[in-house]
Amino acid sequence: MTLPRPSALPSAPPCSPGLVPAEPGSPELFSPEPFSSQVRDHFSRRAASYDHQARLQQGVAWRLGRLCRDLPLPPGPSADLGAGSGLLSRALLAHRPDLQVEPPRQLDLCPELLARNPLAASARPWDLNGGLPPELDGAALLGSSFALHWLDDPAAQLRHWVGRLAPGGWLVLVVPLAGSFASWQAAAAAAAVPCTALPLPAGPTLVNAACSAGLEPHHCRQLRFSQAPCDGLASLRWLRQLGASASRQPPLGGGQLRRLLAHWPASPLQWQLLLLIGQKQRQARGS
Ligand SMILES: C[S@@+](CC[C@H](N)C(=O)[O-])C[C@H]1O[C@@H](n2cnc3c(N)ncnc32)[C@H](O)[C@@H]1O
Repeated sequence: MTLPRPSALPSAPPCSPGLVPAEPGSPELFSPEPFSSQVRDHFSRRAASYDHQARLQQGVAWRLGRLCRDLPLPPGPSADLGAGSGLLSRALLAHRPDLQVEPPRQLDLCPELLARNPLAASARPWDLNGGLPPELDGAALLGSSFALHWLDDPAAQLRHWVGRLAPGGWLVLVVPLAGSFASWQAAAAAAAVPCTALPLPAGPTLVNAACSAGLEPHHCRQLRFSQAPCDGLASLRWLRQLGASASRQPPLGGGQLRRLLAHWPASPLQWQLLLLIGQKQRQARGS
């Protein structure tokens, strides 16, 4: 399916490689199609098990929802960007029943995940690499959890998102950062094989991008989490089951994969997350 991709932003630079090397013989092999098509295909294959696997995403969404309880929202639409099965919006609605009047629109690349979203009535398949749809102009609340890093140019899209907020509108964001998956990086270096983990954005780059577009951070923290799988194979399998296994790189060969796993330390998968909640300035600086 071809998704709408408006030309709101200049064309993005080539995208980074995906998270998980496909195992030899896997149907999820590298293909030269656009990265977002691969991302969609991988999430769609695992849509049925996403909520079951996404315990970290669920916990973080709940935390975000709680932090949004008392935000003074101006009038305007709201949206969950890269909403998937709606974990963030479900948490927002649990903490902010006032949003039930007009629930956040659910934008996502993957129709199969949106089909499992209880807010499907406000769902729209959408490729966020092309910017936001016009109906989100002057948004009161834009939320996004574990999705921005999948886009071709996260910093440019984040600037664009802040630009679409109404004065006094809120951005609520969680995104994995560079520094995550240290054990994978270390194993790849020790095994002398390419690390095919998705290169993740740097926290300061994202915060600067948001601030340059007029966001005033109210809550900005880097959080560390460890994921339960405690060896390389379990970690890669978990990412695959989550659907987070798209790659623009050719997969590692069987020998490379075995070397990688042999050097993977017996430690959980580590995440570094940026949690950013900020408000769009009511007036442009200097005015
Ligand atoms: C790890 S899931 C997170 C889903 C949800 N926000 C959560 O916290 O559970 C990443 C989501 O980003 C979506 N995504 C990735 N690239 C996208 C794009 N270019 N446009 C829209 N959605 C995208 C995927 O389809 C997937 O639903």
